[in-house]
Amino acid sequence: MLESLERLPDDPILGLAAACRADPNPNKVDLTIGIYMDEQGICPVFEAVKQAQQILMAQEVTKAYMPPAGDAAFNLGMQKLLLGEGSAVLADGRVGSIQTPGGCGALRIGAEIIQAAAPGTRVWVSDPTWPVHIPLLGSVGLQFETYRYYEPSDHSVNFDGMVADLKRAQAGEIVLLHGCCHNPCGADLSLTQWQTIANMAQQQGFIPFVDIAYQGLGDGLEQDAAGLRTLVDQLPEVIVAASCSKNMGLYRERTGLTLFVCKDADNAAALVSQAKVAARRVYSMPPAHGAIIAARILEDETLNALWQSELVAMCERINGLRAALVGKLNASTGRDFNFIQNEKGMFSFLGLSAEQAIRLRKEYGVYMLDSSRINVAGVNASNIDYLADAVAKVL
Ligand SMILES: Cc1ncc(COP(=O)(O)O)c(C=O)c1O
Repeated sequence: MLESLERLPDDPILGLAAACRADPNPNKVDLTIGIYMDEQGICPVFEAVKQAQQILMAQEVTKAYMPPAGDAAFNLGMQKLLLGEGSAVLADGRVGSIQTPGGCGALRIGAEIIQAAAPGTRVWVSDPTWPVHIPLLGSVGLQFETYRYYEPSDHSVNFDGMVADLKRAQAGEIVLLHGCCHNPCGADLSLTQWQTIANMAQQQGFIPFVDIAYQGLGDGLEQDAAGLRTLVDQLPEVIVAASCSKNMGLYRERTGLTLFVCKDADNAAALVSQAKVAARRVYSMPPAHGAIIAARILEDETLNALWQSELVAMCERINGLRAALVGKLNASTGRDFNFIQNEKGMFSFLGLSAEQAIRLRKEYGVYMLDSSRINVAGVNASNIDYLADAVAKVL
């Protein structure tokens, strides 16, 4: 029976990263996968994580299962990080959450809950969106519709198009929003635009599902959560999928959180009970290591300050690279790449055709997705000139 299964192609992003690793070209540049890389091209372990890990090693007394909702301190710390220390919905007890295996696990648990509440619900996703959203949410039976989001011709958010499309979102339907640092385009909503979406959700009754995987990599921890908090302040129900992969560098520790803002405390407790049953169905309990480290960083003042300073340094490096890239690309191509500087987080589209992206790969060893999405953090002082020259050659 199993022999009937065919071999599938690699995941397009992971497959390209593997192809880059195997490329013998000494000048190769890897701008594919969404991990932060430092000036040496390494995805580093945060110093705050190292210190929290040492404390964990010294204090750990068991490897017994975690509870299905995960670590309590992690849940609380993440709720405050996402919603703000003084959050009114937190004070009102209208929040429930569950620790999950990464942001992907968080999205999946969110999807399971939506499917349990209303099977086959329509989820509105941005065009474009992170490609994994569709299989991750679709595998539980949810349906999709796209809304216009990024306009390649002027490298910005087509907000009029987004609003026009979301006018068709019905009560009870889900609108998936990128909390900050949109993946793949890096173009984010302004606060005024978030407010418009909140008003529409209130009037039409659709429910925002906010995927926030990059909090702290755009304008800062608080600023990057401002859009989410605008929704939460105004709406009866919001679902959130959060990840500590990028902002704490805990990628392989699979550390995330599904959070529900609900009508009242009873409903919050009901949703947590549902999420625990959904988790039991899928993976039983979340992993401990990353969440206990994250909890320690979130609750310990000294570690928290260290973590935030490291995050700010990362963010400044990315923004510095954005500025440098604009300068180099404008000079080498004679075109206007200034839009890269207005975008947030690790990703931007360079605005090249798939043919040009493939030529960059084949002829110059410069690896980006066919859509010309680049991971800005993969740029560094030793490859930026080569990259800018290669782009000029294929244009
Ligand atoms: C938009 C978006 N959401 C969610 C995730 C999930 O992150 P993870 O499961 O690695 O925590 C990612 C990771 O790349 C992402 O880009």
